[in-house]
Amino acid sequence: MELEEYRRASREVWEAMAPGWGEWAAEMETANAPVRAWLLRELDPRPGETMLELSAGAGATGFEVAGHLGDDGRLISSDFASEMVDVAQRRGNELGLRNVEYRVIDAERVGLPDNSVDGVVCRYGYMLVADAARAFAETRRVLRPGGRLALAVWSSAEDNPWASIAGRLLVERGQLPTPEPGAPGIFALADEDRLRMLLGDAGFTSVRVQQVPVTFRFPSVNDYVAWATNTAGALAVVLRGFDESERAAFAADLDERFAPFAAGGEYRFPGVAVCTAAS
Ligand SMILES: C[S@@+](CC[C@H](N)C(=O)[O-])C[C@H]1O[C@@H](n2cnc3c(N)ncnc32)[C@H](O)[C@@H]1O
Repeated sequence: MELEEYRRASREVWEAMAPGWGEWAAEMETANAPVRAWLLRELDPRPGETMLELSAGAGATGFEVAGHLGDDGRLISSDFASEMVDVAQRRGNELGLRNVEYRVIDAERVGLPDNSVDGVVCRYGYMLVADAARAFAETRRVLRPGGRLALAVWSSAEDNPWASIAGRLLVERGQLPTPEPGAPGIFALADEDRLRMLLGDAGFTSVRVQQVPVTFRFPSVNDYVAWATNTAGALAVVLRGFDESERAAFAADLDERFAPFAAGGEYRFPGVAVCTAAS
């Protein structure tokens, strides 16, 4: 797919995912708590600083950051999908956060002045952008000298069966295209060497990478399918197109493949995030 076509399609997909990310926010945050904690620790937000969250989704990672910035500091919570920004803003208002600004920002064209933020945080965003090199260059441009970047992307498909089993099944059934090497997608920045190279090329001189394990838990296959249908980007779009019988056939196939992950009356899937601190 051409990059421009990918950008258009991806934005449309993520606009459509926004209500689901609002609805499933608590489950997402339970599973991803270790990653959120890692990013917060490495970003090390201090009172009075300006922090930018890119690809914020429902906003939870940045909201924790905002809690450390005080009344004089500011979090810019952003996403390229305007519906996603609305979801984050509603949640931020519910939490009573007063030092947060909400903006529609594409990570490839941030649109803030050079050297204008003290830190950037981005959980599970950079691997989805059409041109990751451009997004990292934009991040470096808006960071002040000495500014910190804390990011997480997903490790390999093998490390993340919570996502890859369903994805592989749809590829086998001809309902999703085989992922092209190097193309944007959930596992596109799994390779630590490539990630380090991209960050180095963007001008980051200090890069520290750590693999952080997570666990996704689902009471049943049907719960998994409901969750994926509402949140899983391109995969969700395929699931939304299923009629009742296709959905049942898909769930039956998953049931078989999920068997090794059954434990204590639920399914427990391991996952690994590649967490990275750069400056
Ligand atoms: C997997 S979700 C992660 C959301 C949130 N950061 C989290 O961890 O819960 C990916 C998010 O990246 C956003 N996104 C994808 N491409 C983007 C881009 N080029 N610029 C900004 N945001 C983008 C999507 O709209 C979506 O909200």
